[in-house]
Amino acid sequence: MLSDNIRRGDNGALLFAGHDVSALAEKYGTPLYLMDEERIRANCRMYLNAFRDSFPRGSRVLYAGKAASFMEICRIMAAEGMGLDAVSVGEMHTALSAGFPPEDIYFQGDAKTDADIRYALDHGVGCFVVDNPEELAALSAMAAERGMRQKILVRITPGIDPHTYEAVNTGTVDVKFGAPIQTGQAMELVKAALAAPGVELAGLHSHVGSEVFDEDVFEQLSDVMVAFMARLRDELGYVAGELDLGGGYGVRYVDSDPAADIPGRLREVAERLRLRTKEAGLPMPRVIMEPGRSIVADAGMTVYTVSTVKRIPGCKNYVIVDGGMSDNPRYSLYRARYTVLHARDDAGETEIFDLAGRCCENGDILQPGVSLPADTRRGDLVCVCTTGAYNYSMASNYNRLGRPPVVMLTPDGSRVAVRRETEEDMTALDL
Ligand code: LLP
Repeated sequence: MLSDNIRRGDNGALLFAGHDVSALAEKYGTPLYLMDEERIRANCRMYLNAFRDSFPRGSRVLYAGKAASFMEICRIMAAEGMGLDAVSVGEMHTALSAGFPPEDIYFQGDAKTDADIRYALDHGVGCFVVDNPEELAALSAMAAERGMRQKILVRITPGIDPHTYEAVNTGTVDVKFGAPIQTGQAMELVKAALAAPGVELAGLHSHVGSEVFDEDVFEQLSDVMVAFMARLRDELGYVAGELDLGGGYGVRYVDSDPAADIPGRLREVAERLRLRTKEAGLPMPRVIMEPGRSIVADAGMTVYTVSTVKRIPGCKNYVIVDGGMSDNPRYSLYRARYTVLHARDDAGETEIFDLAGRCCENGDILQPGVSLPADTRRGDLVCVCTTGAYNYSMASNYNRLGRPPVVMLTPDGSRVAVRRETEEDMTALDL
């Protein structure tokens, strides 16, 4: 199986995190997001232990809330000792409502409004990752007005191609995030940050992209960032204490995807950073990383009920289910690949189908070309694996469909973390 929390029981029934998926669908209805809590915690610990082993004290792992943000996941992150990368007032409010410590929040984003900045200052958010000169000026003025100096990192665009898909590349010089080194804008932003009265520059931030599989992307990033840190020392007399390398490690969506040895990779990154800082005569910085996908993706599965099986002779077969791009837009947006499993025994004859959703557009495909039992029919359950990241968080109410509930699975049972949206919710904001 794709991941060791997915199994078939004796009768071929699909089990996720030790639970019979059909029984969960019966109890909670479909479409249904399942989340394996033990797996989320294990992924956090994998990072936290690797950080303890490889990086200096004070280094931190932040969970990138954009991957999946709701109160229960923030409680889990707080309990595990993770920090949080939040990109909006909504994500910060979610975390704070769950009792997440504000000082452990890093506030990111390339277009923070004055209201966003005010909210984060009012709530004592630990650190801002400043993207651009306008944000720096606004933040510095607002913080200075309060008589405080806000801790910040500045976001640097390293000029590295992470070889991922276009929508999630953030490393190359032409992206909309951060200040590029090549153009001199990074140096200007650091200079401005050092001169700004309302901020305290703790170090540098960078993020090359998401679904990074190339072996040495983070080593290349370390080279570039340390070289820039050396220039900052030489030209400005500034020594950066903190270096945020962003998120981005890829996960396995299909069997042919490689399995990333993240602790091994982190050891190599630490070695490279030690080597380069030593060569440059710089102290080893505290390292921050912001994984999202690799914390929650393989903890998720989405369960659907088949509405119809449509065979268009000489053309194509569809299995059409009760969810779709409204709960998982990733195939329609990125042509993202997924593994699809039938909830009952799939050992018999199979056929190839496009798994389609219920939204009123032909592009509502969850996954093309999937192998499912040939006798798949209305009422059967079909599951999409590895949906823990960027599914719930990117879900919409397109066609006024309610978003599915999120149910947490533990060895002792299951509980609703986010309830299903009802038709009343669809009009709750309408006046
Ligand atoms: N830090 C920053 C500044 C980011 O922009 C991101 C992701 C992360 C950390 C977390 O990256 P991760 O470890 O999850 O790869 N909606 C897309 C993914 C967008 C990623 C945006 N930024 C998808 O569904 O694939």
